[in-house]
Amino acid sequence: MTIQEFLGKKEFNIHTQTVSESCPSNIALIKYWGKYKDQIPANPSISFTLNHCKTNTEMEFVANEAFSVQTFLSGNEEVKFAEKIEKYFKNIEQYLPWILQGKYIIKTENTFPHSSGIASSASGFGAIAKCLMKLDESFSGKKSDEESLTKASFLARLGSGSACRSLYNGLVVWGETDEVKGSSDLFAVQYLNSEVHDIFKDFNDWVLLIHEGEKSVSSTVGHGLMNTNPYAERRFQEARENFVPMKEILKSGDMQRFIKLVEHEALTLHAMMMMSDPAFILMKTGTLEVINKIWDFRRETDLPLFFTLDAGANVHLLFPSDGSEEKIKTFIEAELLQHTQKNGVVKDVMKF
Ligand code: DP6
Repeated sequence: MTIQEFLGKKEFNIHTQTVSESCPSNIALIKYWGKYKDQIPANPSISFTLNHCKTNTEMEFVANEAFSVQTFLSGNEEVKFAEKIEKYFKNIEQYLPWILQGKYIIKTENTFPHSSGIASSASGFGAIAKCLMKLDESFSGKKSDEESLTKASFLARLGSGSACRSLYNGLVVWGETDEVKGSSDLFAVQYLNSEVHDIFKDFNDWVLLIHEGEKSVSSTVGHGLMNTNPYAERRFQEARENFVPMKEILKSGDMQRFIKLVEHEALTLHAMMMMSDPAFILMKTGTLEVINKIWDFRRETDLPLFFTLDAGANVHLLFPSDGSEEKIKTFIEAELLQHTQKNGVVKDVMKF
């Protein structure tokens, strides 16, 4: 599909309306880090969509008023977020030609703790894009479910790259790769369930909240620093190449190879940050202590507990529901929770 196919209809019939939508967060296994103009990713990525960490959004559109956006997060007005959304709406007018013809009151709530460092931009923009598609169908006519979902993913991407993957359950791919049929730089697609071994269909993601609060460098700035990173091209190439073993692993259920690949992706992401100019480090002491303990635990027990990281200090503890999870949970509670701020852990699952 091309960008032209997402352009909005010039005929529409707007009216005042309130819509509500919910969208989960996701965690990447092969990471998106580096992008080109118009949110085109430098390499393909694949993620697991979480089941519990979600954003619930209510969007009130008041037709025929001067364009403005007001946003509330858990009842508190968020002026900065409103400015961001205003800019975003102006940017997507060609895809939703009615979008600037009214005012918006947007109320959002996350099911995970605020400032936990769990990516709220993915679930947040995912939920906003779904609300916009509901309004669009009401103003310019119904679309097929598939068409509507693809366009929601397309619009979410323009808000935040990783958000486009949150529109689908299970394993989701964003970015063109020969390894995944139908994959695109413009929107995400669901990875075929029939190509996924059962072991990956019931997985745990416990997020250790190592450091709550603002990150020292935002994802947007971090992506930008890839433009001058001398290792960037090699990294993009490696991510593309990693789709080949990832596909085999997802099919065969080879947990050892999966662990190695996923941890390598996480560490490479952070290595890229350290090799940026200016360099930056988002991991904290606790992050490294947890990683070392996980490695010791695996050496001693051979149990499938491993980690991934997003652009922050928190550690996503990944482990399958394969009968070994009780021992793993006991270890986490006894040994890893002490490295969090305030015993913070968000327990999520990826079940599909
Ligand atoms: C490290 O999607 O937050 O989580 O497109 O600038 O909004 P923007 O960035 P964002 O970047 C996420 C990067 C990542 C890896 C990933 O989710 O693939």
